Amino acid sequence: MTLLFAEDGLIVNLSDPEEKTMDRLIEKAEKQGYHGRVKKFTDYKQLCKALSKPRLLVFSLPHGGVGDKVLEGLMPNLEKGDIILDCGNEHFANTERRQAKCRGTNIRYIGCGVSGGYQAARAGPSMCPGGDESALRDVMPLLEKVAAKDKDGKPCVGIIGKGGAGHYVKMVHNGIEHGMMSAICEAWGILVKMGLGYEEIGNILKKWDSNGELKGTFLITIGADLSHKHDDKQDIKGNEHPLVISEVLDKVVQDVTGEEGTGVWSNQEAIEHHVPAFTLNVAHAFRLASAYRGDRIKANEVTDGGFPPQQLNIHDKDSFIEDLRKATYAACLASYIQGMHLISRADQAHKWDINYGNIWKIWRAGCIIKADYISDEILAPILLSSSLKAENIHLLFQKRVATDIRNAYPALRRIVSKVVETDQVAPALSATLEYYKIVTGTDLPTAFYEAELDYFGSHMFDKKGEKGTNGPLEGKFHFEWKPVRTQSQ
Ligand code: 6PG
Repeated sequence: MTLLFAEDGLIVNLSDPEEKTMDRLIEKAEKQGYHGRVKKFTDYKQLCKALSKPRLLVFSLPHGGVGDKVLEGLMPNLEKGDIILDCGNEHFANTERRQAKCRGTNIRYIGCGVSGGYQAARAGPSMCPGGDESALRDVMPLLEKVAAKDKDGKPCVGIIGKGGAGHYVKMVHNGIEHGMMSAICEAWGILVKMGLGYEEIGNILKKWDSNGELKGTFLITIGADLSHKHDDKQDIKGNEHPLVISEVLDKVVQDVTGEEGTGVWSNQEAIEHHVPAFTLNVAHAFRLASAYRGDRIKANEVTDGGFPPQQLNIHDKDSFIEDLRKATYAACLASYIQGMHLISRADQAHKWDINYGNIWKIWRAGCIIKADYISDEILAPILLSSSLKAENIHLLFQKRVATDIRNAYPALRRIVSKVVETDQVAPALSATLEYYKIVTGTDLPTAFYEAELDYFGSHMFDKKGEKGTNGPLEGKFHFEWKPVRTQSQ
């Protein structure tokens, strides 16, 4: 982002605990022709002195304590009207705590989610700012200049709402990202078990990316791209231009997916706000389980080899792959539905006044969950409606979404049946099937759950025929399922 700002003509005053990191960046800036535009500072006093007023301080820090420490160090050197633009993946509650702290000294704090990875940070990321309104108005022209641009040339940035809303929406973006990535890697695993080569799989992903419901989905685009990447050099056997994915995936990459935190938070928040986020929850649990490789190895031994996915013998490959495409879309759509549901619940609870049209703008390009079909066909008609209110945002109730679910559901069911039959690993796809079944169901076996709760704990139940409730509610009726013991019994 330093280079991005420098490219835009700004003088960037850097501060980093590692002087070498700053030196490297300055060297890069010089090489790229931004002579004298990047300067380094080793103490906050000098840094703040060098900045023109009102100062704009951009944080790009790991979340948690680091941000607090940096803020504490900067505060004595800041003045009324200065702006902090926190571009880290920060927890929204930390952002709101710091905003409250800064308010006392009239320093303006913006929590800004930044998406797109390190390459987008350089080329122009998608940005999701929220917080102090006057500060947001002041920084928007700059952010609009440097942000990613969508296919119509519009910047992928917009004011999200009050308080920590910007960081919250970015956190949910990452929850959706996890759901989508899980579904895509599960589909990839199934294609491998069909005996297809990596490049063949790359061709399939390329097709998915060019047409239909997964059209223009960034995570599919890069999946196709990385499946086709050939190295410039020879491999150790002397083969010219080996396929990188074979070199890397087969020999180097462990089946372990770590995490930085935003996935944990989005799932905690979903539970906190009583949002059934099956796909996001299970995608996250999948990542967690993958990280326990040592335990998996032990469990594999004690279960005599576990339950490895069997090779798939598919008779009609084309129609199976088409089913898989639809199933993958169903899980990506479910991730969006669950994420938007969470945002609308949190918005109502925190009174952030979220601008949903701006979420659409921000997710349209430059970010990891960019998905053209979903953006154009699903989100645009809903999120761009002028009469939109947070309480009315549930993608599940929209006609177009319902049609797509109806269309994809049989394919999803066929894929999950095959998955079950042949022990394929497909947690997010399977959870998505349950999700659609349950959230559209009106005859769930939870009636028996309720009866048992009432039996042992007098938890009370709702009666059939009562108007549907939304969210957890205390039941009103109790039945004495067994006679109460008297003292003499
Ligand atoms: C982005 C990404 C980015 C990244 C996280 C990884 O929008 O550019 O979401 O923020 O995915 O740094 O976080 P997890 O390890 O928690 O997924």
